[in-house]
Amino acid sequence: MYTLIPITGIVTAVFFFLAATNGIKKYVKNGVVQFLASQHRLFGALAALTAIVHMILAVSMGALRITGTVSILGILVTAIAGGGFFQKGSRGLYITHRIAGPVTAVLIIIHIIFNSAY
Ligand code: HEM
Repeated sequence: MYTLIPITGIVTAVFFFLAATNGIKKYVKNGVVQFLASQHRLFGALAALTAIVHMILAVSMGALRITGTVSILGILVTAIAGGGFFQKGSRGLYITHRIAGPVTAVLIIIHIIFNSAY
């Protein structure tokens, strides 16, 4: 049962970084990158969903981490701002989405490095 925590964590990170390929689609004219970027909203939404499952498992097994808590907040802000921008086209939400995405990428890397301790 405990192994579900790292498994769902890895799946979350994979979906998150697949969603992040949207940020390089303008610079890398490669078929794989263009295809992955075209599925951006799907990967972003799946990252948010799997992050929630990952956190519920961690909390229920007494393994909540500060770095994980901050990371999931970043993922949720990124996904909600992205979804909100998609619906409403608000410039503020787009800027929030563009800032929250890269910040969250760093938070996730810190979480992966320190997850067994913090
Ligand atoms: C959670 C992980 C996510 C990451 C790391 C992420 C990252 C990014 C990045 C870097 C851009 C900039 C692309 C550009 O301007 O060239 C972008 C744009 C955008 N994102 Fe996200 N995003 C995520 C989730 C989502 C979700 C869940 C949605 C909506 C359901 C969404 C909707 C959008 C929209 C509408 C744009 C602007 C149009 C476009 O470039 O496709 N994003 N995102």
